[in-house]
Amino acid sequence: MAKPPLSMKPTGWFQVAWSDEIGIGDVHTMKYFGHELIAWRTESGTITVMNAYCEHLGAHLGFGGHVEGDVLQCPFHGWQWDTEGRNVCIPYDKRPNRGRRIKTYPTVERNESVYLWYDDNGREPFFEAPDVFASFGDDSTVADYYPQRRLFERGHEMHPQYVLENGVDFAHFKYVHHTPINPIFTRHDFDEPVSYVDFTITFEGDDQQIIDDVQSGVEAINGGLGIAVTKSWGMVDNRTISCITPVDDYTSDVRFMVYIGRTPGKDTERAAAKAADFGNEVIRQFRQDIYIWSHQRYSDPPALTGDEHSGFTAIRQWAKQFYPDGIGGSAAEVYAALERG
Ligand code: FES
Ligand SMILES: [Fe+2]
Repeated sequence: MAKPPLSMKPTGWFQVAWSDEIGIGDVHTMKYFGHELIAWRTESGTITVMNAYCEHLGAHLGFGGHVEGDVLQCPFHGWQWDTEGRNVCIPYDKRPNRGRRIKTYPTVERNESVYLWYDDNGREPFFEAPDVFASFGDDSTVADYYPQRRLFERGHEMHPQYVLENGVDFAHFKYVHHTPINPIFTRHDFDEPVSYVDFTITFEGDDQQIIDDVQSGVEAINGGLGIAVTKSWGMVDNRTISCITPVDDYTSDVRFMVYIGRTPGKDTERAAAKAADFGNEVIRQFRQDIYIWSHQRYSDPPALTGDEHSGFTAIRQWAKQFYPDGIGGSAAEVYAALERG
């Protein structure tokens, strides 16, 4: 695949792990945005994501580094680093090196995920990572749903923006998912870094007639380009979280989570098994999207129908704010800028 014309270093919150992958005292290695990173958890439970290399002589802290109470000790010469990346102890010197600091990243844990704030220009977070329950303001909690089911696929040649564009792409349901769904958009709100797309669903009958007595819909909240949460209501009751995190200039890790709603008073084993099947089906449908996205070439300007125009234009304009150069939302402009030198 050609290098995506959109920057792979967008600003925002991105999932880098699940909370339960990093227990007390664990040191977890990972690579995102072209950086070698570690995530480690203190004995009091605080998680820290930081650059992987020790500021002393450059040992990789993910290979033999270990947690001592609330600090991380380097395997090479025993220097200790705190949750702000500050050196707090050199075992063979009178005082720590106060000048050197390992770069740490703002991190939150939410909905069983670890989210990292990435900004190429070093700005602090200027919006919040969405919550698959609280952000919908409907008093729902994780207790109303069966346990989270997950998909994790590493290293796909795809860009986070493709996944968000899917949210305004009404025409793909029938062809990618073979579901006779006809979404009718009721909200396209791209004013803030956190954006909203709502649609109701009508089902198309076998003779293409519209069956619109089904009251169902989807609400989606995009927290920047990295995290999208959805709530499906009506015929189906589920929540999903999709998280696409750039690994380097070509590839992204894809994580997707689904929660299926419980029916009050009907919490039988059979219902749980059905919910598990339904969750697997939602994940299977997401895989169908990944199959397309991971081979897609970003088309800009795209050839859109009149009905497609407003959604795609709004989301692409909105996306520009997350790119370090402010123009990454349009491949045509990026190419033009490159040609100008
Ligand atoms: S390289 Fe980490 S203590 Fe020396
Ligand atoms: Fe889809």
